Amino acid sequence: MITRIRAIGIGLGNPEHLTGQAIRALQTVDVILVPDDGEATEATADLAAARQAICAAFIAADHPYRIVEVPEVVGLGREAGAAPGTAAYGHGGDECAEVVDRYAEVIDGLGAHEQTVGLLDWGDPARHDWAVRVVAALSARLGVEHDVIPGISAPQLLAAAHRIPLGRIGSSIHLTTGQRLVAEYDSALGDVVVVLDEDLHCGDLADLYPNVELCWGAFLGSADEVLVRGRLADVIDEVRRVRAEARRRHGWVIDAYLLRPPGDERGPALPAWPRMESLSDGVVSLRPITAADWAVLLEEHNDEESLRWDFTGEPLTERHARRNAARAPRDWSGGRAARCVIVDEASRAAAGTISAVRMGPPDVALIGYGVLPAFRGRGLATRALTLLADWVMRETPIGRLELGHKIDNVVSGKVATGAGFLAEGVHAGRLRNADGTFSDEVSYARIRASAPGPAAST
Ligand SMILES: C[S@@+](CC[C@H](N)C(=O)[O-])C[C@H]1O[C@@H](n2cnc3c(N)ncnc32)[C@H](O)[C@@H]1O
Repeated sequence: MITRIRAIGIGLGNPEHLTGQAIRALQTVDVILVPDDGEATEATADLAAARQAICAAFIAADHPYRIVEVPEVVGLGREAGAAPGTAAYGHGGDECAEVVDRYAEVIDGLGAHEQTVGLLDWGDPARHDWAVRVVAALSARLGVEHDVIPGISAPQLLAAAHRIPLGRIGSSIHLTTGQRLVAEYDSALGDVVVVLDEDLHCGDLADLYPNVELCWGAFLGSADEVLVRGRLADVIDEVRRVRAEARRRHGWVIDAYLLRPPGDERGPALPAWPRMESLSDGVVSLRPITAADWAVLLEEHNDEESLRWDFTGEPLTERHARRNAARAPRDWSGGRAARCVIVDEASRAAAGTISAVRMGPPDVALIGYGVLPAFRGRGLATRALTLLADWVMRETPIGRLELGHKIDNVVSGKVATGAGFLAEGVHAGRLRNADGTFSDEVSYARIRASAPGPAAST
């Protein structure tokens, strides 16, 4: 009578890849279910042998267990007969229910004394949703408990074999398959790990991204491991040759690789905005927006007056206000925008928002601001704009700040000139109104050489 189903990550074929937790889990298992694709290929035989070696190494001789094969269903991430290294393995359909039916049928036929069922998953179950999904669905259907035991995955082994980290501080890791690589690739993605690539699609990127570093490996973690590393354009032919040779020797090949952009192809990273501490003129102060400030963003944006002068005239939903506030710290550290709350020093209340956003050519930023209705008419916007513009010019290489307003928004123009911005002209029909018409925009700029304007005139 089954009481527990376990998905156990077994690493990539080497018994040394099993974690202590996986070994203990394996020792509790009475029945191991393995998919049977009905094909007698070298890949299937090698994988079955690796599984058996692991069981023999860790399950005590006096603990009876058996391996039961479950006829494989086409789908759920693999096509019939597809070996783990092939594209077909990763691009089948999604017939989870049918797969679960098959496993449930087999479990129904197990002996009364068999209580714990294990699905051994190549690598880490989290890296391949087959085992996790089947185990979760089976446990729900049969009303038994289930768990997932992590294992060492191909990306981890690849990085360790090449003695490199996956990703670097402040950049991302992108994990994809060969079929998607060319459409998705961009050096700004950071480190890109590719599994399931029978056709070495990275070769199609060699002309466009010759300097990207390719770190390739086959049969990782085994005695047959082979590695190649170098500039993509230089080593792609060698990888093709080594791979073909490995396939000849084993009858199949399983490999993975990583594309690392070199320093000069990592995409133009923006410098983070400097820390802003107690930026105050005694009447207003500025502080960076955090997730907790969403209500200020919502109130400022959705006020009737603000909507009239807004770029789009579209109200903000609470969900969007929360999202924008939560993103503000990332914009700050990622260099995109310095978004601040304007604080009324007398009451310590949030009085509005003001932002500098990097836009267009290097070292140019666009300013936007808005003050809550209760705080209007006291010159707070001019003070806030003066504080922010002085800070940007002092603390960053930005040498030109731009802003614009709908031509009838006379108050905004006074704020701009009050903070030392000079009107540069009118852009006809640039800013959309809520009714679908377009207003002319008056544009202003303050450049580093401009004298700071007089404070607090509005
Ligand atoms: C669908 S993924 C399964 C991933 C696995 N669950 C994991 O944790 O990495 C199978 C792919 O992982 C990679 N892979 C698995 N074992 C490998 C090995 N020993 N050497 C190189 N790549 C391997 C190959 O790219 C293969 O196509």
